[in-house]
Amino acid sequence: MGTIMHLAVVPLLVLVAMVVVQPCTAVPIPHPRWHIHVVNGLSNETLLVHCKSRDDDLGIQHLVKGAEFHWTFRVSLFGRTLFWCYLEKPNFSVSFESFWVEKHVWLNSRCYDKNCIWIAKDDGIYLRNNPVNIDERVHNWNKIG
Ligand SMILES: *[C@@H]1O[C@H](CO)[C@@H](O)[C@H](O)[C@H]1NC(C)=O
Ligand SMILES: *[C@@H]1O[C@H](CO)[C@@H](O)[C@H](O)[C@H]1NC(C)=O
Repeated sequence: MGTIMHLAVVPLLVLVAMVVVQPCTAVPIPHPRWHIHVVNGLSNETLLVHCKSRDDDLGIQHLVKGAEFHWTFRVSLFGRTLFWCYLEKPNFSVSFESFWVEKHVWLNSRCYDKNCIWIAKDDGIYLRNNPVNIDERVHNWNKIG
């Protein structure tokens, strides 16, 4: 009994010390890491993907059926991070914002666990509603030319 008490008290003291010390040190608030995915869910075609932010050009990707492209980032200090993507399949293209910082919960709730999963399908671009595991169509393809 005495030994158990003793063992329990030491970590408790350390914990108390940390809590007391913490306000004095500038502990940076960790910015969560986001993961954005673009998936080729087309039935039969290669998907061209070109995503960018103001600072980063993620390059042109050619995704075969079923393949995905993804990237990871933390939102900038002032929360102005914005990514957009251009997608193209034969005769059709679409541009859309694939990540933005929002005060509301539309994107946040669908990107549960900080994973946004965009899926190009034959009839449009879908975003997976992660908590309920349903793909929701958000954008239509536009005919090129
Ligand atoms: C699907 O892909 C196959 C093999 O490349 C091709 O022969 C066929 O024409 C394609 N079908 C459509 C609907 O694009
Ligand atoms: C693209 O459009 C052209 C002209 O309308 C058409 O001949 C061709 O079959 C189309 N290709 C696909 C893959 O839909």
